[in-house]
Amino acid sequence: MPVNEDGSIEEGSAKILPLINETGKQDAFYNPAQVFNRDFSILVLNVFSELKKHEEDERKANRDAKIKAIKEKDPDATPFEIPEYPGLTILEALAASGLRSVRYSKEIPGVNKITVNDIDETAVEHMKKNLQHNKVDTNKVTPNHGDANLVLYNSNNVFDVVDLDPYGTVSPFLDSAIKNVINGGLLCVTSTDMQILGGNTPETCFYRYGGTALKARYLHEMSLRLLYNAVASCAARHQRYVEPLISCSVDFYVRIFFRVHEGATQAKMLGSRTGLVFQCMQCECFHIQPMGDVEFKLSGRQVETGKKSIFLVKKLKKCQKTAILGQKTTKNDISDLATRKFELSRLSLRKRNRKKAQIHRRKATHPKIVQKTDQQPQTEQQIQKNSTN
Ligand SMILES: C[S@@+](CC[C@H](N)C(=O)[O-])C[C@H]1O[C@@H](n2cnc3c(N)ncnc32)[C@H](O)[C@@H]1O
Repeated sequence: MPVNEDGSIEEGSAKILPLINETGKQDAFYNPAQVFNRDFSILVLNVFSELKKHEEDERKANRDAKIKAIKEKDPDATPFEIPEYPGLTILEALAASGLRSVRYSKEIPGVNKITVNDIDETAVEHMKKNLQHNKVDTNKVTPNHGDANLVLYNSNNVFDVVDLDPYGTVSPFLDSAIKNVINGGLLCVTSTDMQILGGNTPETCFYRYGGTALKARYLHEMSLRLLYNAVASCAARHQRYVEPLISCSVDFYVRIFFRVHEGATQAKMLGSRTGLVFQCMQCECFHIQPMGDVEFKLSGRQVETGKKSIFLVKKLKKCQKTAILGQKTTKNDISDLATRKFELSRLSLRKRNRKKAQIHRRKATHPKIVQKTDQQPQTEQQIQKNSTN
């Protein structure tokens, strides 16, 4: 990164001043590892800004046509006027030096307002200096000192974009952000938590994200899916649902961009979009068991049911020999019980089977199975065939 004479660092169109502490020494104020995160976010927000403008233009055209029709019928009518779309309103809820917001204000066309918030007083002072130094429009970019959750709960649903970029896990901020981003708005979520999402401490992973990671080859994808699950289930509690636009797993963090929509019907689909992953201990084969199923009614409506999950658990029970666990259980406690039993069986079987598995792996003729979640799960016959090969 280019460093100027005054010690400021240039990134994109921003210059960030050094942070000097009370003893006159320079504190850590710049994390070069996050440059990609900010560049990537600017790219996505540029696209989102265009998309939003397009949607608003369409809405305006429809509204104008309706107003014209009303006026033609009754020239004295005063139809309800909706204010013009002013551009994106963004909250950077955990902003530190304000670098990201400086770049957002300069590098994204169609931004109306940015609130740049941090809980740390020193960070806010530094942020104010940086905003001044970068000559950002003070009508557009406002620094704020506060707890991100409180800022969101008091915001009255005005933010088109909420950006969450904490030091560690994002889970304490999900509820307030999902509830308070506007309908159709963009939620940008970073979780700098690969230690946990990567399966080092499954118990912590479970309470933060509602699932545990397996140390498999798809670990990075799984960490993204765990975060997706945490956000989707949080949204469903507010009768909202999320549409993941783009995601990445880089170094020590994962980042996902979601559009958040209102919709109780879609929220009900959460069960069929959630699943348990059963990983074979001897090969790379895995199986995803959905927690629910969707039935198509004659009317064309889709209705979420829980039937299939129980059916599939019974089927899997026969495959225990292959070290894929299926546990007969009720739907209510399946997420907890099956996951724990699975972990336990993995541990005890691992010792017994280590040697056997090594020999088996060498001889194995299993085809590599690359299975995406939206593909059909393997049948019982396929699994048994694989295990006897
Ligand atoms: C990783 S830094 C943010 C980096 C910044 N987004 C960037 O791209 O340069 C995380 C910041 O979150 C702040 N923070 C932690 N808890 C907070 C809370 N509850 N509310 C607001 N800010 C918080 C910390 O003070 C810290 O400055």
